[in-house]
Amino acid sequence: VGYIGRDRQNDARDVLVGGLENLEYRGYDSAGVALSNGDVTVVKREGEVSELVAALESRETLAAPVGIGHTRWSTHGEPSDENAHPHTDCTGDLAVVHNGIIENYEQLKAELRGEGHEFESETDTEVVPHLIEAAMERGENREAAFRAAIERLEGSYAIAAVFEDSEEVLTARQDSPLVIGVGDDGYYLASDVPAFIDHTDQVLYLEDGEFARLTPETVSITDADGRPVEKSLSTVEWDAEDAGKSGYDHYMLKEIHEQPRALRKCLRERVDAIERTVDLDLEGLDDVSAIHLVACGTSYHAALYGARLLRERGIPAQTFVASEYDRASLAGETPLVVGVTQSGETADTLGALRTARAAGARTLAVTNTVGSTAARECDEALYVRAGPEIGVAATKTFASQQIALHAFALWLSEESIGSDRIDALRALPDQVQAVLDDSDARSVAEAYADSSAFFFVGRRHHQPVALEGALKLKEISYEHAEGFAAGELKHGPLALIEDDTPLIAVVTGDDEIAQKTVSNVKEVQARGAPVIAVTDGRSDVEQYANHVLEIPETDPTLAPVLANVQLQLLSYWIAAELGRPIDKPRHLAKSVTVK
Ligand code: G6P
Repeated sequence: VGYIGRDRQNDARDVLVGGLENLEYRGYDSAGVALSNGDVTVVKREGEVSELVAALESRETLAAPVGIGHTRWSTHGEPSDENAHPHTDCTGDLAVVHNGIIENYEQLKAELRGEGHEFESETDTEVVPHLIEAAMERGENREAAFRAAIERLEGSYAIAAVFEDSEEVLTARQDSPLVIGVGDDGYYLASDVPAFIDHTDQVLYLEDGEFARLTPETVSITDADGRPVEKSLSTVEWDAEDAGKSGYDHYMLKEIHEQPRALRKCLRERVDAIERTVDLDLEGLDDVSAIHLVACGTSYHAALYGARLLRERGIPAQTFVASEYDRASLAGETPLVVGVTQSGETADTLGALRTARAAGARTLAVTNTVGSTAARECDEALYVRAGPEIGVAATKTFASQQIALHAFALWLSEESIGSDRIDALRALPDQVQAVLDDSDARSVAEAYADSSAFFFVGRRHHQPVALEGALKLKEISYEHAEGFAAGELKHGPLALIEDDTPLIAVVTGDDEIAQKTVSNVKEVQARGAPVIAVTDGRSDVEQYANHVLEIPETDPTLAPVLANVQLQLLSYWIAAELGRPIDKPRHLAKSVTVK
């Protein structure tokens, strides 16, 4: 984050700390600020932003109208005070914060050491202030020195710098998000809008290769060659209250409960109940012959779900873990490549989309973030409209991705859409509400929270949510959890089944597919493990289950959305029972902008 007040009375400290608190979901190993008020003062601490706040209070730092701050998700060097940002040059006259990875930092460090620079941290970032300092020693002015330093960097970065005796913030980006907020009292800078949404909703998005200089009076943006770039202001469409906890103990629980509203927003003006049509306003994508979906983490599970629906509508569709996607994945074809990414900033997913584009493929971003890099770089964007999601564990964005991809599959296929499917889609938000109102997940969670491991299974449409159920639980509870296609249990995982390893089985309908999963449940139950069935009550799975988490009946393709809500609640309450920091699980970050 960064801030520069319109006049000297404005105080950057509160703005920076508030901004960092709102950005903690992006990393929380350590936090720090650099304040410029004639001198540059750096205060930084290992741990959460609260540690920084305590340090700032005890230091009685001076008010300053200019400053930058950072909350870290470690890539180089363990979390520690020394490795926390901001980093300074030898004299401490300038300070830098950085997101991303500088790939050639070892070479640059060796070179700078040769010139007499000394380093205090193990980070890649620390080379940047020293490069700026070296250029200034050669006689360059601040801006030219900053540009010269940036030119030397290979890798990804969003960088901001402040200097002594200077009311300015210099900043640049390459492959890491950066947005400028234009407020009445000054200018803001951040890697994501929640950092300053309390202050302004007027924003300028920086593009890769661009620089900006913020002063109390102006923002000047230039391209890599120093030519001025004209940008128009965008208005952010959500407010600070959307980003608050609204009385819930955790953002995650709030966001789970926001799912009915999120799904209604996702469907609004897209699914016409009277005409039985789906209209997505995507240009040039209606003649698609094959689709690749690329995604990471939870979004990968939404992509698996979407790909199945696309195939069912006759469209060849495959899903790839984004970090594994390469030229060979395209195998000489040029499919439509769909990046599923709630943040629109995940480096692995952006990389896969760029690989696709370089091979001539058209690209579509399915994302929650208007103006994100994925949305801007792809030919088209389909917004999932879930609203801001702060909890690191994705919940409502997953449900909204499922529904957006569902609508996409219906929109693409030429078959007429049956009234049943349309009615089921429109009834879904109320059914999610019913699950939230009546769920027994909390009492089941309390009974099983101290189990030694958890196994999740589902078949066909339910396989992706079995994977997602396990991912959610391991992320926030730190318990061992695995998800499998139900048929795979007997091919290995069964060896792990014991009387304290509950099986969570998703079974809906009463057809042959459901019966197969019921058989798998029996195999586990016969070996003494407790069974928790997530079911619409149509099969006889309840006879073999110790506990039942009910969901309403719906179209088979939509049942996974309802089942997943029970799985989310189960994970949440297990993590709550275990006293975990649910919104900020250790080692994770919400959007990972490094590869
Ligand atoms: C991180 C998060 C996951 C998320 C994944 C993809 O690893 O911790 O929860 O699913 O990134 O994020 P995206 O923004 O691309 O959906």
